[in-house]
Amino acid sequence: MTDLNSAVEINFDDSIEESEVVDLYAANAWSSAKKPNELVAALQNSHSLVTARIAGKLVGIANAISDGHLVVYYPHLLVHPENHGQGIGSRIMAAMRGRYGSFHQQMLTADVDSLGFYEKIGFERAGKTIPMWVYGGDDH
Ligand SMILES: CC(C)(COP(=O)(O)OP(=O)(O)OC[C@H]1O[C@@H](n2cnc3c(N)ncnc32)[C@H](O)[C@@H]1OP(=O)(O)O)[C@@H](O)C(=O)NCCC(=O)NCCS
Repeated sequence: MTDLNSAVEINFDDSIEESEVVDLYAANAWSSAKKPNELVAALQNSHSLVTARIAGKLVGIANAISDGHLVVYYPHLLVHPENHGQGIGSRIMAAMRGRYGSFHQQMLTADVDSLGFYEKIGFERAGKTIPMWVYGGDDH
């Protein structure tokens, strides 16, 4: 039996190709797949970028935006639908939290369907705060 945990490679600062990124975002029906230039530039300019690969195939990705000291925001985390429930999202976020886990404020905007996931890995609803945005997508 394949040991899936060891088959998945988690890396910081991996190089990414536009086509594999678009495939992963489109597979999850994320609207930023329709803005490939901005999407790849945004990922590459993040404070941190974590990828998950199985035999070279990009199966998960997450980025972090941060001031490097106090605050981190996690804009994107997604795992290919064929690989959901295999511990990949947890491992990506464990890598991120290895870097930012001691920061005073660690924020994200959770899709309602992913609430249970984030609660399992230690996030909670953000007190009395309410997320606000100006959003150019059509997928929420
Ligand atoms: C949410 C997401 C990143 C989770 O990644 P994943 O690799 O499938 O999650 P894991 O396998 O690491 O799951 C870890 C735990 O969370 C649970 N979990 C995973 N997704 C869940 C969900 N949507 N709701 C409730 N629990 C969930 C798992 O059952 C597992 O529990 P266990 O430790 O008791 O076995 C992934 O499903 C995904 O990419 N979804 C689409 C994009 C998305 O919604 N991203 C987050 C938006 S902000």
